[in-house]
Amino acid sequence: MDELARRFADFARAFEVGAPLYGRIAARVSREPRVLDLMSVTPETQRIPVLLFASAHHLLLAEPNHPLADHYPNFERVNAEGDATDHFVDFVLSRSEPMRELLATRSTQTNEIGRCNWFLFPLSMLNDEVGTLARVDIGSSAGLTLLAPHIDYDVRPGGLIGSGSTLTIGCDVRGEPPLPSRPPDVVRSLGIDASPIDVRDDDQVRWLEACAWPDQVERFARLRSAISLARVHDIQVEKGDAVDDVEGAIERVREHGHPVVTTSWVLNYLSPARRTQFVNALDRLGASTDLSWIIAESPRETPELPGHAGKDEDITVISLVTWRQGVRRVERLATTHPHGNWVNWGA
Ligand SMILES: C[S@@+](CC[C@H](N)C(=O)[O-])C[C@H]1O[C@@H](n2cnc3c(N)ncnc32)[C@H](O)[C@@H]1O
Repeated sequence: MDELARRFADFARAFEVGAPLYGRIAARVSREPRVLDLMSVTPETQRIPVLLFASAHHLLLAEPNHPLADHYPNFERVNAEGDATDHFVDFVLSRSEPMRELLATRSTQTNEIGRCNWFLFPLSMLNDEVGTLARVDIGSSAGLTLLAPHIDYDVRPGGLIGSGSTLTIGCDVRGEPPLPSRPPDVVRSLGIDASPIDVRDDDQVRWLEACAWPDQVERFARLRSAISLARVHDIQVEKGDAVDDVEGAIERVREHGHPVVTTSWVLNYLSPARRTQFVNALDRLGASTDLSWIIAESPRETPELPGHAGKDEDITVISLVTWRQGVRRVERLATTHPHGNWVNWGA
């Protein structure tokens, strides 16, 4: 078995329970040389099962009446005929040209609205301390976590925090976070990303949706709802680099409120030297202006960040870094589920 076939076989074993549709398709693809060959156009680092799945899903979302869609749980159909893996193989081989085009040029993109739960408590703490906020989100993708002020939160225990948004996300909390009475007050929001997704662009949105896993029906529906809301609130994400553009972005928003930078699972993409430069940039700014930074990253992947040195933790840790009158303070707040399903405050 060659390396690519092995990757699909490994995927099938890892996800046969958690994502049964993709698990079954992966097992089949591992035995289908003609399907594996479609990925010969894919750069080596991107030759991973999820890219094949996202590419097929992207085409299927544009052809929702194809019988393969009946097997995808996110299309929420009642009856499905035939075998899903047969349909999948037929579907991708009969669309080999657009498949190869996607497989040669795209990489998977994610943006998780549930991660607003990571920012709810620290943003509200900052509201209590310094008032209204102007936020710069680095590595913002489609900017969905910039919706934090515009969604409702079902905090358990704690109750509903919000004001009738079309989107409510649940959050199980352990420990005792300071419970706000309303969503955070952020008057200006700006996203920066190396490869931003424009929520107003149908093709870009379809790719983001395609990268979501069809077995996760609720998550898929939540993503769609978040994209609609992002269009309503005109969420803006600009092309830029974490290190080169963070200071300029802060300068642009700070007249509107206390500047707060947020980073969630982006700084792991930087080299150690670039991460250090990012920290240095904020330290430099913080020496002369009050500033805050909410970090939601894995300490193991980002040991150069404040509070992360020597912590061999894979889990997402939420920390708050503040610069007040030139003095930096770092506070570890919580650990959390990768998609924000729970927040373990004080852990
Ligand atoms: C895993 S996604 C996380 C998206 C979002 N923060 C979230 O939590 O859902 C990482 C994002 O970081 C962006 N990114 C990677 N390197 C970057 C850099 N040097 N500067 C800005 N954005 C970067 C990627 O394009 C991608 O959109």
